[in-house]
Amino acid sequence: MSDGRALARQYLEQQRLLGGDAVILSDSRTVAQSDSDDTPAIVGRVLASARRPRSDRPTVRPSDPGVRPSDASLPPPGISCDPPSADLFAADPVSQAGTLQAVAALVAACTKCRLCAGRTNTVPGEGPDDARLVVIGEGPGRVEDETGRPFVGKAGELLTKILGAIELPRERVFICNVVKCRPPENRLPQYDEIAACLPYLHRQLELLKPKVILAMGGTAAQTLLDTKQSLGALRNRVHRFRGIPVIVTYHPAALLRNPNWKRPTWDDVRIARRLLD
Ligand code: URA
Ligand code: SF4
Repeated sequence: MSDGRALARQYLEQQRLLGGDAVILSDSRTVAQSDSDDTPAIVGRVLASARRPRSDRPTVRPSDPGVRPSDASLPPPGISCDPPSADLFAADPVSQAGTLQAVAALVAACTKCRLCAGRTNTVPGEGPDDARLVVIGEGPGRVEDETGRPFVGKAGELLTKILGAIELPRERVFICNVVKCRPPENRLPQYDEIAACLPYLHRQLELLKPKVILAMGGTAAQTLLDTKQSLGALRNRVHRFRGIPVIVTYHPAALLRNPNWKRPTWDDVRIARRLLD
């Protein structure tokens, strides 16, 4: 692939992850033209739309001299999602699981969706059962599948650094994913896989009762808040899941590809930190 096409593809991918408007090219020749000198124009348009100023820019600006975090106001409220809590009298074993370990044991034996076929290990999540912050990602990757632990690959290293930056050692945080088995080739989990796995996450949150939830990436945010809104639209709001504040930010894997998003992610995690204090 030529450099121009690679660049165009990279920006289109950024646009998708940012949750910007769909970019529809009018005919196939437009794409072919991206091999030619037209590429910068196409990329320029995509970039211009990705950079469109949002009225809901973060209100916390860490570099503003004289603005201490406590001075900054919190972002406005967003979605409130209140799925029914587990019925303790139900026969369903997930609702009956009384500890995080019991949930993990159910996950380890689970065959409720096709992802069980390709897994080496289930990755239920890990962290103390009195964690005040819960971080939710999308699903295990290769290293996670090999080890049975969440966020231990490259993206995980970055997550550990991000948590360190807000003075939260990762050992004090409960870290988990929407789906507990690795999707093949790290593809997005499909709707029915998410639906099959969601009771485990809901039960984990019910047992943990965290003070704040950090949803990393579109899959975590959209699943938790039961919405199709884009990541871009969901950032900079304090959403609620059963009353617990939910902050939405980029997925660390997206940050590895787009270091420009580290700054907005930093803004988001500082908001989560302030909600914890
Ligand atoms: N990405 C995720 O969403 N979760 C992990 O556990 C690792 C990478
Ligand atoms: Fe079960 Fe979830 Fe694994 Fe699917 S992804 S098999 S629902 S634990």
